[in-house]
Amino acid sequence: MSNGTKKKLRSQEWFGKQDKHGFLYRSWMKNRGFPQDQFDGRPVIGICNTWSELTPCNSHFKTIAEHVRWGILEAGGFPLEFPVMSLGETLLRPTAMLYRNLASMDVEESIRANPLDGVVLLMGCDKTTPSLLMGAASVDLPTIGISGGPMLRGIYRGKHIGSGTNTWSMSEDVRAGKMTIEEFHEAEACMHRSHGHCMTMGTASTMACMVEALGVGLPGNAAIPAVDARRNHLAREAGRRIVEMVREDLVLSKILTREAFENAIRANAGIGGSTNAVIHLIALARRVGVELTLDDWDRLGRDVHCLVDLMPSGRFLMEDFFEAGGLPAVLRELGERGLLNKDALTVNGRTIWENNKDAPCWNREVIHSFDAPFKPEAGIAVLRGNLAPDGAIIKPSAASPHLMQHTGRAVVFENIEDFHARINDENLDIDETCVMVLKNCGPKGYPGMAEVGNMPLPPKILKKGITDMVRISDARMSGTAYGTVVLHTAPEAAAGGPLALVQNGDMITLDVPARTLTLHVSDEELERRRAAWQPPAPHTDRGYVKLYVDHVLQANEGADLDFLVGKSGSAVPRDNH
Ligand code: FES
Ligand code: MG
Repeated sequence: MSNGTKKKLRSQEWFGKQDKHGFLYRSWMKNRGFPQDQFDGRPVIGICNTWSELTPCNSHFKTIAEHVRWGILEAGGFPLEFPVMSLGETLLRPTAMLYRNLASMDVEESIRANPLDGVVLLMGCDKTTPSLLMGAASVDLPTIGISGGPMLRGIYRGKHIGSGTNTWSMSEDVRAGKMTIEEFHEAEACMHRSHGHCMTMGTASTMACMVEALGVGLPGNAAIPAVDARRNHLAREAGRRIVEMVREDLVLSKILTREAFENAIRANAGIGGSTNAVIHLIALARRVGVELTLDDWDRLGRDVHCLVDLMPSGRFLMEDFFEAGGLPAVLRELGERGLLNKDALTVNGRTIWENNKDAPCWNREVIHSFDAPFKPEAGIAVLRGNLAPDGAIIKPSAASPHLMQHTGRAVVFENIEDFHARINDENLDIDETCVMVLKNCGPKGYPGMAEVGNMPLPPKILKKGITDMVRISDARMSGTAYGTVVLHTAPEAAAGGPLALVQNGDMITLDVPARTLTLHVSDEELERRRAAWQPPAPHTDRGYVKLYVDHVLQANEGADLDFLVGKSGSAVPRDNH
């Protein structure tokens, strides 16, 4: 069979050789039952799988891979599935984010070193999406992304409950004495009752929407529930399409253009997406050489309304979003308001606008129109000031309107252990007007920039019925979390950022409309404190964690490792014998 293109496929540098190398490359494969004709120059497609029992959100990926395989075979390709490091958000400690860049290296090197002409990426739980996209982007073969799909709605005692979002609220209910531990255990089984990833608009759902908005996934990719048969239809279609993409030489960098990233940023505002997308998209853009900065996030998202009434900002869940029309309905609203680069190319060979211009919406309670938005002007806000010279971010749609302009007295926690040790202390000198400040939870400080920025409030304040306070840190926050939470403060405390110099009693002003974050301490006093500042002790002197801490970039640059920025392409390495 011909591969349908004049370009010689890279897999033929392995399987097309008629010497001892060709024998080596083919013969061992034949033990699987592949006959000689499989090596005739048809596109070899890698199915990059993040299935793992340690990643519950991706537990159904063997099934998805089989549907992809059928599609590849139908289109005349040669499918080969391979595993890569899988990052499960719930089990990995100290945080899955510490390993995003490591997994991306696994993906990149696994693709380049093998006889692959195209790749299908199977992604679900939060970090599996950016790690696979980043790794694949640094190789730049024809690539198509498939998300695993969200879980079905959680239902506890007749009430819908959402991944993460209700974990935070129920754990506060336990702390406030409103829920028993037995009820808590019951709710655990009710919340996550099917295959799939978190079904709130957390990071996994957000990143699945980013895959679709970037054009890397087929239309409809983001919202089809994991257990809905249409998820498997999409996988099969993706398998067929990747073979064509190889024949068209439609490589990832033709999809991941500046225009595509701009579309993704606006889509993130439209869905009220996770703050984690800011870091992941900046890191991904830098892999393909697209300039993307924090200021792009603020500028492009500023006028975009949040259209989607989903937890954590709203009421509904991903299953409702799917039934209402999913991301295509949002993209159509954006496009009709001139907020989409309509010519951006997508993996199906059509433009984003061709794919979405006629998308229906079946439920305006779930997906609002742009004229009657769920929340107005809800893009990520980027804050600057003497407390965050390189920026910090806040998600206004998840914050409390009355705290968007607030001045308060700092209550400082030096690290997460200090926070846990003192937050339940009835004698802690804090009230609801204070600003909670958490240090040393950034990329280098934690290490890995954990999702601890949405610090639980002190019990004595919760008992008053107060549910939100201004919180500032160099950490991230789970995409399923909410609150007036300033995140990603850069430079981080452990890198000597001004956050390291905040002391109890300092006054801090958050002014989201003015996009400022101000520490009311004089420059002279800050210099005096800086002279006395000691960096925290290193976490380790060896291994990946040392490599990570030595090379990780700050949040505003995507927290990638400095030597991973850019791509090395898909050139075929030397023969191995
Ligand atoms: Fe996997 Fe939320 S824990 S997506
Ligand atoms: Mg998360």
